[in-house]
Amino acid sequence: MNLATRSLFFALLTLLFMNAVTAGLPPPRVKADNAMIVSASRLADEAGLAILKRGGNAVDAAVAVGFTLAVVYPEAGNIGGGGFMIYRKASGSATALDFREKAPKSATRAMYLDAAGKVTGETVNGHRASGVPGTVAGLLRALDEFGTMKRAEVLRPAIRFAEEGFVVDSAFADDLEEYRDSLRLFEATKAIFFPGGKELHAGDTLRQPDLAKTLHRIAKDGAKEFYEGATAGMIVDEMSRGHGEITLEDLKAYTTVRRAPLTGTYRGFQILSMPPPSSGGACLLALLNLVEPSDLAKMGFHSEKSAHIMAEAMKRVFADRSKYLGDPDHQRIPLRTLVSKEYARSRLLEIDPVRATESKSIHPGTLPGREKNHTTNYVVQDKKGNVVSVTYTLNDLFGSKVAVQGAGFLMNDQMDDFSAKPGVANMYGLVGGEANAIAPEKRPLSSMTPTLVLKNGTPVLVLGARGGSKIITAVFQTIVNVIDYKMTVDEAVRAPRFHHQWLPDTLFYEPGCFPNSVLQSMAAHGNVMWESPHSLGEVEALSFDPRKRTLTGGPDDREPGTALGY
Ligand code: GLY
Repeated sequence: MNLATRSLFFALLTLLFMNAVTAGLPPPRVKADNAMIVSASRLADEAGLAILKRGGNAVDAAVAVGFTLAVVYPEAGNIGGGGFMIYRKASGSATALDFREKAPKSATRAMYLDAAGKVTGETVNGHRASGVPGTVAGLLRALDEFGTMKRAEVLRPAIRFAEEGFVVDSAFADDLEEYRDSLRLFEATKAIFFPGGKELHAGDTLRQPDLAKTLHRIAKDGAKEFYEGATAGMIVDEMSRGHGEITLEDLKAYTTVRRAPLTGTYRGFQILSMPPPSSGGACLLALLNLVEPSDLAKMGFHSEKSAHIMAEAMKRVFADRSKYLGDPDHQRIPLRTLVSKEYARSRLLEIDPVRATESKSIHPGTLPGREKNHTTNYVVQDKKGNVVSVTYTLNDLFGSKVAVQGAGFLMNDQMDDFSAKPGVANMYGLVGGEANAIAPEKRPLSSMTPTLVLKNGTPVLVLGARGGSKIITAVFQTIVNVIDYKMTVDEAVRAPRFHHQWLPDTLFYEPGCFPNSVLQSMAAHGNVMWESPHSLGEVEALSFDPRKRTLTGGPDDREPGTALGY
């Protein structure tokens, strides 16, 4: 199949899938015997699957998917952002790779405050919003250390999509329309996403020749090219056009970090997740510890009792997140305490069995920030049982909205994940303090939660999510749905979710999440309930049945995500 035929084929598949969704039917369950990929893009799944079928391992495929998403899903897939990867070899060793962006060396604690001490908008849009990108260093380090294939081979699909183009789908066209005004502020961005000054619509083809050249250079000369070569020069030139902070010295100094995965247990399952500077793993383990003493299955799915304990746990965990979590390379974090079962027991004593702790009535505001699809997550399992979960991001959709002229890619706005001013919420409504204050070369606190769940030493669930602060509660609920409510992975991902992040004091829920009687009773017991018009995170997951040796895909039809296996 040539590219045009394939695009048409997948457009038809998507149409069939969307018809199933609009008809209220669950999409067909995707199963496989050997290997599987679940991501936000069918084209990226295909690129990764081709690598697996050629004998590449899960990391080879994950790197191919990461670079492909940077082309075909440029609002979140990226080479100008950063993220985290959890990789576990079938033989048992596991690594957490931190390729989170770093603050430039010139960064200062008050850099986003105006003369009156108010936070400016510069953390979100424009050149000053960017941290030093980590994606290229991260993906290529993973390939070097855990992969088997050559750079050129895993980058080939991404380069082809950038050169030949890909067919714009309606989700991407909608995102472009929604962000039109901020994207048009920057000439290089306008040139990519409004080619010839025109808006792109579903069915149009988007070619990105500058990005293709950048990817060619990376394929040839590796990460050194991006951080010290021609691409680095273009980034620095772009920074100088908008008072950006990133210098050549910053780029040269960028490093990824291999960290030990954060581990814990839940009802006999082993959990491996991302340690700081992501708050994801610590918050996930703390949430699981807090609900473990409760028999959630007996209480019932989305009953008042189970929702109450889960929501009260969420409030406490996000309160702790705001105070204690930050970059572990810059300050001491009481991590062992935060994820210990003893600490959870002491926090549990504070929870009233019926009433919400914050009982005074607070009028719900709108959920801070947009609820759309920031960030992206994908998971891979190969035929040997090696597994990978990657979450990476530009932060906001389209990041800082600034594309690097001549290099064809968007820069992140990850500086917004720092606490620009203690007590003042960022775009996700998250507040922070000293532990997440801005400092030179520090990594901003993240919520990304790439996670593995093991039973008797075998990964049975590989997952992660996108959606800012909702990532943590979405991963948490997916695990609870599988372990406590015995759902299959696709059911667990699809089930409606709720979210509380301590501040604002509001329990957000998706339509259909709770019966009316539960909603009324929870409100009567002091919860401020708010139906969210947007999805509360999007999970991409896969499960493995060690007895039958089959894989099942758990794509999130909120995106819509896609699963592909063989
Ligand atoms: N930029 C979103 C996060 O890292 O949580």
